[in-house]
Amino acid sequence: MTGPAVPLRVAVWTTGNVVRQAVRAIDARADLELVGAYAWSPDKAGVDVGRLCGLDRDLGVPATGDVDELLGRRPDVIVHSPLHVDVAELARLLRAGVDVVTTAELVTGTNLGPDALAELRAAAVEGGATLFGSGMNPGYAQLLAAVSAGISAGVEHVGVSESVDVSQFVGDANFEAMGWGRPRDDAGHAEDVEAGSAVFAEAVELLGRLLGVQLEDIRCEVTFAHATEDVHLPSMVIERDHVAGMDVVWTGHVVDGAGGDREVVAVRQRWLASTRIDPPWTVEHGYLVEVTGDPNLRLRLEIWPTEADLADLTVATMHSIGMRITALPVVNAIPAVHAAAPGIVTYADLPVITSPLRP
Ligand SMILES: NC(=O)c1ccc[n+]([C@@H]2O[C@H](COP(=O)([O-])OP(=O)(O)OC[C@H]3O[C@@H](n4cnc5c(N)ncnc54)[C@H](OP(=O)(O)O)[C@@H]3O)[C@@H](O)[C@H]2O)c1
Repeated sequence: MTGPAVPLRVAVWTTGNVVRQAVRAIDARADLELVGAYAWSPDKAGVDVGRLCGLDRDLGVPATGDVDELLGRRPDVIVHSPLHVDVAELARLLRAGVDVVTTAELVTGTNLGPDALAELRAAAVEGGATLFGSGMNPGYAQLLAAVSAGISAGVEHVGVSESVDVSQFVGDANFEAMGWGRPRDDAGHAEDVEAGSAVFAEAVELLGRLLGVQLEDIRCEVTFAHATEDVHLPSMVIERDHVAGMDVVWTGHVVDGAGGDREVVAVRQRWLASTRIDPPWTVEHGYLVEVTGDPNLRLRLEIWPTEADLADLTVATMHSIGMRITALPVVNAIPAVHAAAPGIVTYADLPVITSPLRP
């Protein structure tokens, strides 16, 4: 690989689950140099980011809670993984001329609303900076689905499913809104899941953009499965007959030639917190792309631990693999995002992004 002669200066925003993996990836690349870290937690300020991210060594980069100090380290790009997007904060980074690659609830930005989107666009243009959002899903999963369709003609429908056991993740802060363990038929639960998973509407929009289709409508359908016995998880207990499985399907629709509604893309999440559930759903333990066209296509993406991870296959290791496949799509996109025109970009605007081979 031929990278830039001078490495791109990269800072990270927080040192949570995703950034812990991003820092390892940045540290391993000669074309990226870690120069700063923003700490949301006051007690992390001044602590070396290597230690904060669980490495056994310092990286010579202390975290700071002061955004001016972070910007003073002159990052070209920030790997941004806060718990939730703060539009004003994000606009400040862009206006300062720093490109941002984020895993946080932002792919096209539509969910933020027109005012926030306009504010981010203006900040990016003013600062000459680029904003890009991805992750495994939403993000890379839609890219994979769209690319998969590239060997088929007359494509009618493209769907991608995340079909996974989330029993180790249900306690994560970003999963809180889903209401794992709520009672059967709890009023408003489906609506809460729809609101909590609204970023997948942006995933549908992205898939539509990649396939060159203008969607008329985006919808969500939520179905629950319930525990057939009490389920004891590391982070919580789900009682019998309470929610322990979710099927969350976001779909994109067009108006067909006869004026009728036609579903053309789907982004499905089948999440199981236990196998002892009713209905007895199963999961694929990965990602499934299905293309209806000529020919029809089915692609299953499996994620396997490395030998090193297998030697220490703890719950924490499995969790870290999930976070690695979230962090790498944005870390690997850094050079392309830095080279892109100012504004908010998606995979539909960038060249093919892959991962550099180990030197
Ligand atoms: N697209 C995908 O595939 C995908 C997958 C997983 C996650 N995500 C998204 O990626 C982002 C980061 O996920 P994560 O698992 O890394 O998050 P996390 O570790 O739970 O939290 C990230 C950081 O947020 C800060 N934080 C903690 N509590 C907070 C609070 N109450 N209010 C505001 N900030 C708080 C902390 O920053 P400090 O470390 O600085 O103290 C924490 O490290 C989330 O927005 C998540 O939804 C995307």
